[in-house]
Amino acid sequence: MADTAKLYLNDSEKPLELSIRKGTLGPDVIDVSPLAKNGLFTYDPGFMSTAACSSEITFIDGDKGVLLHRGYPIEQLAEKSDFLEVCYLLLHGELPNQTKKTDFITAINSHTMVHEQLRNFFNGFRRDAHPMAIMVGVVGALSAFYHDSLDINNPEHRNIAALRLIAKMPTLAAMVYKYSIGQPFMYPQNDLGYAENFLHMMFNVPCEKKEPNSVLARAMDRIFILHADHEQNASTSTVRLAGSTGANPYACISAGIAALWGPAHGGANEACLNMLKEIGDVSHIGKYIARAKDPNDSFRLMGFGHRVYKNYDPRAKVMRQACYEVLEEVGAHDNPLFKIAMELEKIALEDDYFISRKLYPNVDFYSGITLSALGIPANLFTVIFALARTVGWISQWQEMIGDPERRIGRPRQLYTGHAMRKFAEMKDRK
Ligand code: SDX
Repeated sequence: MADTAKLYLNDSEKPLELSIRKGTLGPDVIDVSPLAKNGLFTYDPGFMSTAACSSEITFIDGDKGVLLHRGYPIEQLAEKSDFLEVCYLLLHGELPNQTKKTDFITAINSHTMVHEQLRNFFNGFRRDAHPMAIMVGVVGALSAFYHDSLDINNPEHRNIAALRLIAKMPTLAAMVYKYSIGQPFMYPQNDLGYAENFLHMMFNVPCEKKEPNSVLARAMDRIFILHADHEQNASTSTVRLAGSTGANPYACISAGIAALWGPAHGGANEACLNMLKEIGDVSHIGKYIARAKDPNDSFRLMGFGHRVYKNYDPRAKVMRQACYEVLEEVGAHDNPLFKIAMELEKIALEDDYFISRKLYPNVDFYSGITLSALGIPANLFTVIFALARTVGWISQWQEMIGDPERRIGRPRQLYTGHAMRKFAEMKDRK
């Protein structure tokens, strides 16, 4: 492809030359920044054709269903790696050797507890508050405890914020759950692995200690890997935009959590499980498929479709396997919701409406059943998503802060309102 794009404006004979930049993989980009000087903006609602930044962290090929983290396919990471290794990879660009891995785990473990004062924040919430509402609040509030390390231009401050956030999200997520069921908060136990520690804080109580289940902990760890990062999705773009103003990392991650909450994004796992429960029986699937296809019905198949994937989401395949293993381990292999999900997937993938629109199951389609089988309530699913995505958000935030092209994000608009007009006195108003 040529390295410039020529744009002929109005009747000008001389074209405006825009440079084309090539990446390692994926589409080239046209640098449209000179347009503003020529009195023009691009128009791209939903950013369907817009690259907001350059990045080395994650690559997605939506047509082929490929997801790479620093070049490594998600299927290989899910099978051969573990979540803290993937955290190190996303943050530092390479898989750690044994010494670096041990040091990283030690560093994370020294930050798993939260300040005791933070416990008081929970008492201000109703016990039935949605867990995401609490997470947005308490994660943003973390910045109130670290005034000594909020200088985003100080690499040490950026690094310790990343460690604190990765280390504390499981503790906070478990506290949100314990608060909702009236049980005492459990302190982290640093001799356990990351996922084991989370399940310990979620399901153990002070008066009895259950040994960790390695199959369930491995499934939990894999779910974290599958949700770790995903290029410039809505919540990651929110974190980058907030970070471009110089806001502290805790405030930026809190903004990302708020964006993830939407049912079109990270809220889809909770919405998908509720949808499967509403369908209730495989005999009802046809009615819901018809509703999903009806342009006059706002109903959509939750867990289906994706802005980028026009093929099977590679994470969904791994998630389906993890779902099967968890159901087997907990003795729920005949789980009716899993049966409905499998049948729904089969029917949809044979239906021209979904085929023609390239709508496939995404990461949220099986995650809800898996999390439910792990004993996690539906309203906590997106909290789990946020827990795992925190490393992606903070890695992308760090990359943005270090980007020499970094500027405050400030999109423009196509203005379609009133032209200038004279103030209307009360007597003249309709
Ligand atoms: C995540 O961006 C990321 O990377 C996100 C994520 C990540 O890891 O960060 O991957 C996580 O958010 C996964 C997506 C979870 N959301 C859902 O499962 C909710 C259900 N899916 C849809 O709402 C939808 O597919 C989106 C929001 C995911 C994508 O929407 P787009 O890209 O804007 O696509 P669209 O709405 O323009 O749909 C194109 C067509 C439309 O039909 P027509 O107008 O052409 O007739 O497909 C239809 C849509 O009506 N369609 C669906 C559908 N999804 C799209 N029809 C029925 N059921 C669906 N799920």
